[in-house]
Amino acid sequence: MLKLGVNIDHVATLRETRKTSYPSPLAAALIAEQNGADFITLHLREDRRHIQDRDVALIREALSTHMNLELALTEEMIEHAMGILPQDVCIVPERREERTTEGGLDVVRSFDLIKSTVNRFSNAGVRVSLFVNPDTDQIHASHEAGAQVIEIHTGHYADAVDDIFRQAELRQIHKAALLAKDLGLRVNAGHGLNYHNVTAIASLGLFSELNIGHALISQAIFCGLGQAVRDMKKLITNIQP
Ligand code: PXP
Repeated sequence: MLKLGVNIDHVATLRETRKTSYPSPLAAALIAEQNGADFITLHLREDRRHIQDRDVALIREALSTHMNLELALTEEMIEHAMGILPQDVCIVPERREERTTEGGLDVVRSFDLIKSTVNRFSNAGVRVSLFVNPDTDQIHASHEAGAQVIEIHTGHYADAVDDIFRQAELRQIHKAALLAKDLGLRVNAGHGLNYHNVTAIASLGLFSELNIGHALISQAIFCGLGQAVRDMKKLITNIQP
């Protein structure tokens, strides 16, 4: 069954706008778990704009599901993750001036570093996913680098200005996911998914996990986080083949 990873970064975004002690990402993680999240995703950015080191440590201790920690490919972040030992890490590109993760990793260009990082985490018992665009070269390179998991970036699909572009992006994602499955990779997806666009992605029937944050935390303002998670879980699991 398709799993839902609830990304709680934007609970911390709200807290950090005022540097208050609330709302608590830890509380959000626990509510998400109680309402059907299969695991919790969080991104410790180098600039610490939302999630802080303390959040990662507290949440790692408290989860009854598991943690998927997103991190940039830098020695500082890798060392940090090695200290925390989450069950999963997802390596993402990071640029300080970006609003959010805007594209996939360039696995082709950073092949040697990515291969050795995958190896380091695998030796420590941490499952590594690479966040890549739906691009055949990147998927082949991810496989050759030893990754067992990729997460396909669905941001361009989500941001498509009209249905023609949306369908074109969906075809690209479909093709990329099929290739990754053929290579024996576990294939996840995420970025920009919401209550309106998630069904087409889930219906492809190729993904193991979807990582969703912004839309869930936004919806939680109106109906509460528990309801927001339950509604999303229902949407992605009630797919007719
Ligand atoms: N997957 C990855 C790798 C991400 O970096 C993000 C954003 O942090 C997400 C999924 C979730 O994206 P969104 O907040 O748009 O749902």
